[in-house]
Amino acid sequence: MSDEPIYMDHNATTPVADHVVEAMLPYLTELYGNPSSTSPQGLQARRAVERAREQVAHLIGAHADEIVFTSGGTESNNLAIRGTAAQPVSRVAVTSAIEHPATVAPLAHLQDQYRWKVHEMPVDAHARIELAAVPTGDIGLGTLILAHNEIGTIQPVAEFSAAVHAAGGRVHADGAQAVGKIAVSVAALGVDLLSIAGHKLYAPKGIGALYIRRGTDISAVLRGAGQERGLRPGTENVASIVALGAAAELAERLLDDEMKRQTALRNLLWERLSADIAGLIRVTPYDGTLPNTLMVAIPHALGADLLESTAPIAASTGSACHAGTHTPSSSLLAMGLTPDVALGAVRLSLGRSTTAADIETVASSLVASAKALT
Ligand SMILES: Cc1ncc(COP(=O)(O)O)c(C=O)c1O
Repeated sequence: MSDEPIYMDHNATTPVADHVVEAMLPYLTELYGNPSSTSPQGLQARRAVERAREQVAHLIGAHADEIVFTSGGTESNNLAIRGTAAQPVSRVAVTSAIEHPATVAPLAHLQDQYRWKVHEMPVDAHARIELAAVPTGDIGLGTLILAHNEIGTIQPVAEFSAAVHAAGGRVHADGAQAVGKIAVSVAALGVDLLSIAGHKLYAPKGIGALYIRRGTDISAVLRGAGQERGLRPGTENVASIVALGAAAELAERLLDDEMKRQTALRNLLWERLSADIAGLIRVTPYDGTLPNTLMVAIPHALGADLLESTAPIAASTGSACHAGTHTPSSSLLAMGLTPDVALGAVRLSLGRSTTAADIETVASSLVASAKALT
């Protein structure tokens, strides 16, 4: 076995796929044109950007002209949410109690700067919103995390979209964790806006996209020249855009097989862990989740201690650590876990490189550490 830890942290980020590196490299070297320039180099870069736009659109069943390239999930969420601030329909936003900070913070901005009201829907024990909690009355914006980064739960976005549309609002889904891991169709979801984060689907960090349904009025957050229809001014990050296109095409090709393969490995991991760790709590629901995500909680132990004592594994906990103090994730508390259980949570997120042998090693190491700690 190599000394490299086994990487079980694909929801934090993914490595850039070899195929993606190959596709983007020429745009860092000889193909350096500015896509806004009419020079031959510029035209070549423009063609590459437009091809990538088609590849990304294809992955989610959109039209190419509905894709705007951004720097990633955070920027896409900001453009979707803050870009809606000036829309006069209604200043009520509806969201869930388990959103990523990249949604929570722009919503707080709408509240503070534009006097919007933000209605947070609770989630059940599976971290799923209760549709009955969508408020009555006019809604300006509904925004929901499509698949949860820690727990893996997939939300009923199609039903949420229907309810928000019926109340006059537009719908944004944060697809940062979903796109590339599960089949995502903007038509089936009924969303008007969908965020994509490149580094979660084997493209580099610092690139992403926002799907904007034709006819959806959005205001730019950044102001500058006219790139990306003026919605994302600034000279395009051509190499990374090409990378995102290649990553989208690759994800589409691998999706069905990887979903099956990773689901089977994730289930095997749960079997191994639950057989040998007494009282192990499964935080990730059995159904309706990302195929690659397994969050478990070891009673009476800190997830951070468990990972620290399990040398060969790279994974995440369900808590944040500041100056030696562990704070449980607010999403885990929102789904009803006690702070004690939430502090014991460990998120194992599989990826394309994960093998059955990795699962056996990870399981036996975690079992040994859990036994030593409890
Ligand atoms: C659900 C979700 N939304 C948004 C983001 C932010 O994406 P980025 O890191 O590309 O800004 C993340 C990243 O962890 C995420 O998991």
